[in-house]
Amino acid sequence: MHTKTKALMARGAAFLGAETAILCGAMSWVSERNLVAAISNAGGFGVIACGAMTPALLEGEIAATKALTSKPVGVNLITMHPDLFDLIAVCGRAGIGHVVLAGGIPPKGSIEALKEAGAKVICIPPTLALAKKYLRSGADALVIEGSEAGGHIGPVSTSVLAQEILPELAADHVIFVAGGIGRGEAIAAYLEMGAAGVQLGTRFACATESIAHPAFKKAFFRANARDAVASVQVDPRLPVIPVRAIKNKGTEEFTAKQVEVAKLLDAGEVDMMAAQLLIERYWAGALRRAVIEGDVENGSVMAGQSVGMVTAEEPAATIIATLMDECEAALTARLVPA
Ligand SMILES: Cc1cc2nc3c(=O)[nH]c(=O)nc-3n(C[C@H](O)[C@H](O)[C@H](O)COP(=O)(O)O)c2cc1C
Repeated sequence: MHTKTKALMARGAAFLGAETAILCGAMSWVSERNLVAAISNAGGFGVIACGAMTPALLEGEIAATKALTSKPVGVNLITMHPDLFDLIAVCGRAGIGHVVLAGGIPPKGSIEALKEAGAKVICIPPTLALAKKYLRSGADALVIEGSEAGGHIGPVSTSVLAQEILPELAADHVIFVAGGIGRGEAIAAYLEMGAAGVQLGTRFACATESIAHPAFKKAFFRANARDAVASVQVDPRLPVIPVRAIKNKGTEEFTAKQVEVAKLLDAGEVDMMAAQLLIERYWAGALRRAVIEGDVENGSVMAGQSVGMVTAEEPAATIIATLMDECEAALTARLVPA
């Protein structure tokens, strides 16, 4: 079964300690114990989204996840979290084998601290130059994520990042490709380009095991690719990272929020760092409103452009099996008779 796919995924799967090299990217509020355990139990690699959790909450979430699966799971830490080093210590004590550092350049000492804690470190570089820098700094693997993805995004598409980074680095390093992947045919293409595996978020957000509110899932099933739009930056001074989400009233509320934060900046009441934290806190709250409370009008329904390919609730195992089948069929069809 899936012989060609598994051969191309072998390096990535060995790195993760999973049956396949398919990661479910951490999604704040969505990637908690139930979805993470379901993904890992189905042969993928689940990653707990720490988001804004306190160290005590993360400790509890890891323990609860481990009660649901004996397979490896990872933890995603946001680099600007004020308690980053305490969170790293929690991962170390819990024996987490893989930590993804997301949300910007890892602060000094964080990669070293993770390695001392016994974890393999996965970074998310937005450019080839940063990819090389992270590897030099000790990153064990990379996820390259293009602007088609849901959530916080960079400016460059997955297809261009893959062409820039894979030919240079993939032979010697474990690199996973993310952003805009909805079907196995795309996985086949990136594996053939040298990727060790892939990471998907949007495709897994509505899995049966996902605790996302039924209204959140319905918004996904109804949406087309063009409904998943990137947020707009109203003031060039604001340190705003664009976020891709399904267009709704909340999209406009974010514009108002930026004006509010810009005024605080002008009045000298906050500095750039504090302004960024205010913006990020806004997103965490808005996402919670949509995912947990089901307010898909005013909350943030973060989703990637592959949302148009998400049409029904399916168990994580079915999604992974479908992706593997599609990938294998694509690789098989490519074999030209001599
Ligand atoms: C609802 C949602 C929340 C997300 N939250 C996070 C997060 O907290 N940390 C992170 O590194 N990535 C986050 N992401 C990005 C995913 O981990 C993943 O890389 C991305 O969804 C892959 O692209 P795709 O959406 O096209 O599949 C989020 C994505 C979505 C859709």
